[in-house]
Amino acid sequence: MGIRKIVTIGDEALRKVCRKQEKFDFRLAVLLKDMADTMYKAEGVGLAAPQVGILRRIAVVDVTEDHSGLLELVNPEIIEQEGSQTGREGCLSVPGRQGVVTRPMKVKVRFQNRKGEWMELETEGFEARAICHETDHLDGKLYVDMMDRELTEEEIQGHIPEDDAQ
Ligand code: NI
Repeated sequence: MGIRKIVTIGDEALRKVCRKQEKFDFRLAVLLKDMADTMYKAEGVGLAAPQVGILRRIAVVDVTEDHSGLLELVNPEIIEQEGSQTGREGCLSVPGRQGVVTRPMKVKVRFQNRKGEWMELETEGFEARAICHETDHLDGKLYVDMMDRELTEEEIQGHIPEDDAQ
């Protein structure tokens, strides 16, 4: 298990536009495995390569509690989106903070798998939110740039009215 160090806000790696991944080799497989292990250990629902200091268009997402829904997204692009949802969001690179962010309710994402095969996935709700958050990372964008507002410490612990909108 290769746990990588997660960089935090202020690190310039988080502000770069990442380059396309061109090679679908053993190194990519190792990176994807390490990224998933790092995400699960940190109890996150997504992790993008720049968060571990690698400026490539690669992300992992898993919004399930039992780790059964791992998505490995190489060169992902949101090609369709529909509706909107407003709710809380956090980021492993922005520890201890959360904000209210409006995202599409449904997305269609086109991406390559670890073998380089192009795939499409339609999803909605929290998984759609997580995919949007991770693809933003690949363009150097953080949720704090687009949040409607930041949550207070008390709200982070409890219920917030915007959650009802989801
Ligand atoms: Ni993040």
